[in-house]
Amino acid sequence: MSETPVFPELRNDRFLRALQRQPVDITPVWMMRQAGRYLPEYRATRADAGSFMDLCRNQDFACEVTLQPLERFPLDAAILFSDILTVPDAMDLGLYFETGEGPKFRKVVRTLADVEALPVPDVERDLDYVMRAVTRIRHALNGRVPLIGFSGSPWTLATYMVEGGSSKDFRHIKSMLYANAEALHLLLDKLAHTVTEYLNAQIRAGAQAVQIFDTWGGVLSTPAYLEFSLRYMEQIVHGLIREHQGRKIPVILFTKNGAQWLESMAATGADALGLDWTYEIGAARQRVGHRVALQGNMDPSALFGSPASIRAEVARILDSFGTGDGHIFNLGHGISQYADPEHAKAFVQAVHELSPAYHK
Ligand code: CP3
Repeated sequence: MSETPVFPELRNDRFLRALQRQPVDITPVWMMRQAGRYLPEYRATRADAGSFMDLCRNQDFACEVTLQPLERFPLDAAILFSDILTVPDAMDLGLYFETGEGPKFRKVVRTLADVEALPVPDVERDLDYVMRAVTRIRHALNGRVPLIGFSGSPWTLATYMVEGGSSKDFRHIKSMLYANAEALHLLLDKLAHTVTEYLNAQIRAGAQAVQIFDTWGGVLSTPAYLEFSLRYMEQIVHGLIREHQGRKIPVILFTKNGAQWLESMAATGADALGLDWTYEIGAARQRVGHRVALQGNMDPSALFGSPASIRAEVARILDSFGTGDGHIFNLGHGISQYADPEHAKAFVQAVHELSPAYHK
């Protein structure tokens, strides 16, 4: 294990405070996928780096693009620039990106024999470039805002590994779920162990909060979600380092399209839940706000409206959550590559200008 680095003192801790439902002056805000193709400076760095994975593997480039959105907007958190698919890549499945088609794997995992043959990575060794990027970014942030580490959920990672890339109907993994559950459970268990190690390594390297992206949990029935997605996220939550260098490390669970399961998600022991835009945040707060903080939940497509309509939507969501603590403003999913950066700026500014009234 690498030795623990020492970092500059944190100057803006509103994001970490809100995650623990402690009082804040302003509702903290960040955007999922805040570093990415909607920013011309990202596209320029990406062109210099070569492929997307080359960008992720180079700690200087990864650090540069992580900081790009912070130079433009007064965001309250930074998120490590990387991808959830670094984990299956480290399991030797051969990740590559084809322009316009999304991620692809050279090898797929579909049988019990495939799962048994899958190597369990040594994360400190096989994903050392991620930990190096985390430490580099933490130094470069210089205490400005906290750094979020992340991973995909076991279920979401498994969808890519079994399908061989993105999918619309999840035919292969759902066949496995209904016809070969034993093999799928073995795969999810391997992933849960790896993700736990991976997030703990990110925490030791400098991540101050972690988010688990369960992008595809919402395609499951309720019993299947509980058995094949939530159960493994709970296993991860229980295995995480929850306090490091005298600071609590909050954990955020985000299941897209998962609003019907908020109570079960809150029962895992996570500190905060991410919410997409299809559910009212005020109603979510009534259900689970006494146990967890809530992160969300503006429709990313609202950024296609005018700055005035964006501001009105921010006002509506702030009002829906209401007065008090435990809200982290975010989009309900990643920002679109077609979003106008000026509209993203209007969004962040609106949160900062309108939210103090809710924290008196
Ligand atoms: O939020 C951030 O700014 C941090 C960076 C981040 C990326 N991917 C960068 C990225 C994070 C947190 C992710 C997570 C991720 N990756 C998820 C879960 C979150 C979600 O959006 O639901 C998923 C499902 C992936 C898998 C993945 N990686 C997809 C579907 C794609 C898009 C492929 C395409 O061509 O549209 C990627 C590539 C990717 N990851 C890009 C970025 C900025 C675009 C790659 C490029 O520059 O060409």
